[in-house]
Amino acid sequence: MAILITGGAGFVGSNLIDKLLLQKRAVICIDNFDDFYAPKIKEHNISSALSRKDFKLYRGDIREKRWLSEIFKSEKVETVIHLAAKTNPRRSVKEPESYISTNVWGTTSLLEVCKDYSVKVIFASSSSVYGNTLSIPFKEDDPSLKPVSPYGASKLAAEVLCQTYNKIYAIPILILRLFSVYGPRQRPDMAIHKFTKYITEGREITVYGSGKAERDHTYIDDILKGIIRAIDKKFNFEIINLGDSNPIELDYIITLLEESFNKRAKVKKQKRLPKGDVKITYADIEKAKKFLDYSPEVKIEEGIKRFVDWYKKAHL
Ligand SMILES: NC(=O)c1ccc[n+]([C@@H]2O[C@H](COP(=O)([O-])OP(=O)(O)OC[C@H]3O[C@@H](n4cnc5c(N)ncnc54)[C@H](O)[C@@H]3O)[C@@H](O)[C@H]2O)c1
Repeated sequence: MAILITGGAGFVGSNLIDKLLLQKRAVICIDNFDDFYAPKIKEHNISSALSRKDFKLYRGDIREKRWLSEIFKSEKVETVIHLAAKTNPRRSVKEPESYISTNVWGTTSLLEVCKDYSVKVIFASSSSVYGNTLSIPFKEDDPSLKPVSPYGASKLAAEVLCQTYNKIYAIPILILRLFSVYGPRQRPDMAIHKFTKYITEGREITVYGSGKAERDHTYIDDILKGIIRAIDKKFNFEIINLGDSNPIELDYIITLLEESFNKRAKVKKQKRLPKGDVKITYADIEKAKKFLDYSPEVKIEEGIKRFVDWYKKAHL
């Protein structure tokens, strides 16, 4: 039996695949290598997995339900970890249609096939579903979710579809709401990666919210522990936050990067947040602790150090 990972060539997916292969689990990856960021980065992400016998890659789009069905027919899939998505809240404000298409329609076509083959699903949702909720830290049962981007709205819509498929077809579904994941292979559009690039190239960084916006940055290894624990767990339907539960101001991230490269960042501050951004993300992780025995271990100083080590090897 194999674990099928959609979006497996991306940042979280490729790190997850490497960990699962190390644990001698059979893994199938589905990815369309979309051009949201350079497809050659994704090719590189999964290059070592490709040489493994217990790994299989299907190149294609999760919106193609018939094609997905063929894969499920020919493979023995035990669990689906659904990571394929259009990401980045800010960008989703500019091109909402493609987010709804992949994140809502794509998720629906995947759920259709999972229901046909009675396969359990772990779905990567996002802290973006909370939007500007006033209840902080963010709790899974918050009744007043207010996404402020089409990305957040598309993830919330996908969550609702998951709940509906669980109700009508009884497929077990676990929703993990991830919070600002960082570490090796982080997407180039994400703050830590982008700021690192700009600092090393001497380019100006625009910092919105005057540098005081806070994100619950969570190191990739902690996120992977949470996801992997979920694979072996029995569940019917649950929603669980996976964060660090320790929001960090952007200014502090920049200071850590400046120290790592021994170089001052050129910073332009803007008070107003752009459309799609929120002031703070902050995960309550009590449920993750109880249900998954989850306990994030990598502090931001250590995580940034590991990210910078990777960046230097990969880019400098
Ligand atoms: N990275 C984070 O901080 C973060 C935070 C919250 C939630 N998430 C969620 O975790 C998941 C993984 O995020 P990531 O940062 O690794 O993103 P990523 O963009 O690196 O990976 C997503 C992958 O999905 C693939 N994909 C996109 N559309 C597809 C389609 N229609 N069919 C098949 N494949 C498709 C892309 O090619 C890419 O390889 C996403 O669902 C994202 O919403 C990530």
